[in-house]
Amino acid sequence: MKNPLLFAISITLALFSCKTQKNDDVPRIPEVEKLISSMSIEEKVGQTIQITLDVVINKKSKHRIELDTLKLNQALLKYHVGSILNTTQGRALPVETWNRLIKQIQNVAIDESRLHVPILYGVDAIHGASYTKGAILFPQQIAQAATWNPVLAQRINEVTAQQTRASGIPWTFSPVMDLGSDPRWARMWETYGEDPYLASKMGESAVIGYQGVSRDNVDQHHVAACLKHFFCYASNSGKDRTPIEISKSTLYDYYLPSFKAAIEKGALSVMVNSGIVNSLPVHANRDLLTNLLKQRMEFDGVVVTDWADIEKIHTRDKVAVNHKEAVKMAFNAGIDLSMVPFDYVRYCKLLTELVKSKEVSMERLDDAVRRNLVLKHRLNLFNTPTTSFREYPNIASESSKKLAYNTASEAITLLKNEGNILPISTESKLLILGPNANTMRPLLGGWSYSWQGQNADKEGADYSTFLEAAVQIFGRNNVEYLPTVLYRGAKYFHEESSNLSLVSKSAMKADYIILCLGENSYTEKPGDLSELDLSEKQQTLVDTASKSGKPLILVLSEGRPRIIRNIEPKVSAIVQTYISGSYTAEALMDVITGKVNPSGKLPYTYPMHANSLDVYYHKPSEESKTTDGLYDYSGGFYPQYPFGYGLSYTTFEYRNLKVSPKSFSSKDTITVSVEVKNIGSRKGKEVVQLYSSDCYASLTPDVIRLRRFRKVQLNVGETSEISFVLTAKDLSFVLNNGQRIAEKGQFVFQIDALNEKVELTEDILYEKF
Ligand code: BGC
Repeated sequence: MKNPLLFAISITLALFSCKTQKNDDVPRIPEVEKLISSMSIEEKVGQTIQITLDVVINKKSKHRIELDTLKLNQALLKYHVGSILNTTQGRALPVETWNRLIKQIQNVAIDESRLHVPILYGVDAIHGASYTKGAILFPQQIAQAATWNPVLAQRINEVTAQQTRASGIPWTFSPVMDLGSDPRWARMWETYGEDPYLASKMGESAVIGYQGVSRDNVDQHHVAACLKHFFCYASNSGKDRTPIEISKSTLYDYYLPSFKAAIEKGALSVMVNSGIVNSLPVHANRDLLTNLLKQRMEFDGVVVTDWADIEKIHTRDKVAVNHKEAVKMAFNAGIDLSMVPFDYVRYCKLLTELVKSKEVSMERLDDAVRRNLVLKHRLNLFNTPTTSFREYPNIASESSKKLAYNTASEAITLLKNEGNILPISTESKLLILGPNANTMRPLLGGWSYSWQGQNADKEGADYSTFLEAAVQIFGRNNVEYLPTVLYRGAKYFHEESSNLSLVSKSAMKADYIILCLGENSYTEKPGDLSELDLSEKQQTLVDTASKSGKPLILVLSEGRPRIIRNIEPKVSAIVQTYISGSYTAEALMDVITGKVNPSGKLPYTYPMHANSLDVYYHKPSEESKTTDGLYDYSGGFYPQYPFGYGLSYTTFEYRNLKVSPKSFSSKDTITVSVEVKNIGSRKGKEVVQLYSSDCYASLTPDVIRLRRFRKVQLNVGETSEISFVLTAKDLSFVLNNGQRIAEKGQFVFQIDALNEKVELTEDILYEKF
């Protein structure tokens, strides 16, 4: 057992940095400094305000979307508002309309204002240009993570950046760097899954994809990224935006690394977590926003609030006694830009008063203004405030369609394949059932042409539903669709069932029944759940279909893993499509017919029971599966499917795991290598996953942690040798005083079923949070 008291004697100090308490890392750009020095308090305050587009829309205009000149002038010229977000009336707009609106906005901001400062426009372009009509929509982040292929995440974001710029917008509120570690959470699908390392790698690629390589000079084909939602957007209840109580060790060991990795790749902005961590709303937490993010992590970009979250410090969280107190708390905590988004006049008045009374210092205000102006400068908005769609590839170009299809094909995860029932012949006769069979909503998800994705069928009409894609592949005469359980209306939960009595008759002609089940589109609060089981109506449908005696193929399209324990034994195959975008259906058909050999792996633990939602990096006590003869302690860790799991139509064999050196210290790098061979009869892709376990530690260690991974493609009979290089830091964890440490002692490296023991010969201290 390691003794923390011995640390003092045997420590090696590595990478231990302690920043001063000054916010002097933001670059001083002469043009920006000149502007700041000539600004009035009101002009400075305006630069810290973001309003939603609806505030300046002419609601009376019936025929086309128009700005209201008076309202626009008031916001931009009288109150000097510096930023606008979102679409209008929650809908997608054509690129031409976006170009026209942004041009008009920039004309007022630049030509008619005293200081000619451009507007910083931002939208949630989270998987393609979500609010632009006709844009190809890519797999959502959870599906991107299931590819375990960060190159695809980078490519997707490069194209998303182009689509967004074609719409005239230089800033996206993406990627989400929160962990998807709670299947109850309505935003799990917006994340890269439960693992800090996988999320970090995907996030790094996402940032590069959006911003390109030069964060100080972002070109017209890239946009600024915004890491969401800093940090620890998780909760005790599993419901959106509810509190979490969490230890320092857990907070910094699991929830921070993905943000840290993406900030180190140069992310230009960060959006604050709407939630409440250890009883304090994060928007009021100076320790996290200023001391940690801006000073310790040297973040020199913009910290933007989430939607109306400053006022919630007063109205929802009851920490500030009035609105003014809330503005003061948030601004002094380190907010640079407030997504007000409606009552900006009040916000403006309150912040101005606070500056005049010195309750908010001029230095703090200048810092916020500088960060906003530097971002505008980095985006070249002073020189090129608008872009035209004519200068960009079509937002539904052939290459982006291919990318959407390829990513969906690599994401789709085969979870069960009893008796190798899949792949099936394209000559087969199918009966297609289920609420997801003939709608685009579950394939595109939230933030798809609208916030909740409810317009997906109309806006995504050019793309195929499962039924339409099946007809293409199997032929009209071989596909029967029986509408059974259907989603009704725009609401996420509302399902109706019909035709159940006709299922067995229709099944008689079919070779297979394809059950398209899962969830409708949703996000945030409207997606909150009270139970995790798949809905009752869908379970009844499986029961009914199983009575037909025909083999059932379950296609799950869901943003979070819904409990399928009771229906799993009734189906022969299970394919998880997640929310894989415009080409989900084509990719699925190619997987079930064998044109594509599935290679997706779960980026989360698929739970078996709603009371056992442990992540794969749980503690040893969560594994206990003992019986003493009298009682059966059946708690244990019995997921439906483990993290990293996913079947292939071929078989891979692992051999020769080697680790060198076996004994190492702070000065060493460790090389872990393994051979992987395709011993099956089809070409396929495999994700080689390296895990480690700490045998003993001063805080109970996780049973296992992912440390490296690589996706490889192997032809039949081909072998590849994969090597990973690590250091002791990769084996470190965070103590409850915030100290990151690698403790001396034994560790086990594991790839597939192979493992090797190694020894760290000294304790090593890293940064302290
Ligand atoms: C969400 C954010 C989003 C913002 C702006 C909020 O409700 O939590 O993720 O970026 O709205 O649309």
